Amino acid sequence: MLAKRNQVITPSEIRKMFNMAKGRENALDMTVGLPDFETPQYIKDAAKRAIDEGYTKYTLNAGMIEVREALAEKLKRENNIEADPKTEIVCTGGGMGSLLLANLVLVDPGNQVIYPDPGFVSHPAHVTLCGGEGVAIQLKRDLGFSFEADDLKPLITDKTKLLVVNFPNNPTGGTIPRKQLEKVAEIAIENELVVLSDEAYEKFRSDGEKPLSIASLPGMKERTVTLFSFSKTYAMTGWRIGFSVGPSEIISRMVKLQEHVISMPTSISQKAAEAAVNGPQDSVKNMIETFRKRRDIITKGLQSIEGIELTPPGGAFYVFPDVSAYGIASWDLAVKLLEDTGVVTVHGSAFGKYGEGFLRICYAMSNEVIEEAIQRLDSYLPNLLK
Ligand SMILES: Cc1ncc(COP(=O)(O)O)c(C=O)c1O
Repeated sequence: MLAKRNQVITPSEIRKMFNMAKGRENALDMTVGLPDFETPQYIKDAAKRAIDEGYTKYTLNAGMIEVREALAEKLKRENNIEADPKTEIVCTGGGMGSLLLANLVLVDPGNQVIYPDPGFVSHPAHVTLCGGEGVAIQLKRDLGFSFEADDLKPLITDKTKLLVVNFPNNPTGGTIPRKQLEKVAEIAIENELVVLSDEAYEKFRSDGEKPLSIASLPGMKERTVTLFSFSKTYAMTGWRIGFSVGPSEIISRMVKLQEHVISMPTSISQKAAEAAVNGPQDSVKNMIETFRKRRDIITKGLQSIEGIELTPPGGAFYVFPDVSAYGIASWDLAVKLLEDTGVVTVHGSAFGKYGEGFLRICYAMSNEVIEEAIQRLDSYLPNLLK
């Protein structure tokens, strides 16, 4: 009865842990990447105004032109990307909408797509859905969960079509040094690869560095689709709004496809997104500063636990400690931690084969929860070494 594609898509393993934790008393849920902030008031007000002013109807499939103009200004101001709002930007249903549309437009059956591992589970899922073959590039702990551009070379074949990059990375918090990103760009140009750059966590830098979009490097704009999300930056996970910028040949196809899927993202969320980028950015700054402090607390706490090796993340809001010293598979360890301490983490193997031996811990929660989790882990984990 069901189409074959149902067999190639497996449910997210993150949800498995999240569901196991549900209803448990005393559980500290550190699984899902959900900022614990409210959407800033000026954005909520803009959305309410949009309803009252009648922005309640279909819009253009690419999104309202004034919204795309505001996004083009943001791209110029913050990402050093010049884009024509009429032809090179599409508003999508979250960053996820951008990811799927870009894959559908670019990946043919038989194409290979290089994607980061450990990585965001939807990256390989979308490739598989399109009949492509995912080829994992390992993000290495000793490189701050990045890769060296030269590591790409042996993975490139005559079937390689697309390279997915995601910095800051989910689940590791990894970032890539500018020099390496420049080399990645050179390799993409030499091998005529299209790059899909997932910049959902662009603002979440805890290493003091400014965001750097690969599309802003020489020769890259014409071969890169960059996707952004309002979910994390403005704490708008439920509003389902994001956007892509890229060459008009690709963006126009994404728009055409979107017409047949969701038509366009909700008009009210589009107006909220316009207000978000045009408005004061103090709330974003405060949130990022809060996350930076939390990163320091959790890094210091976990590093002091016997058996844990942790490279401090350069961004996002996850830590990815190496727990291989305990000699227990990451899934079993995550289950043990849930059952014996109530700390709910995600097993590293949920994020790809190179995630085994690690746990992902989300620190988008209060200092009290973080400190309590560290205390529970500290009084439990070292016993596993005995
Ligand atoms: C790396 C990455 N990309 C894209 C997304 C999709 O975000 P959204 O669809 O909420 O914009 C997420 C969400 O967690 C993510 O972690």
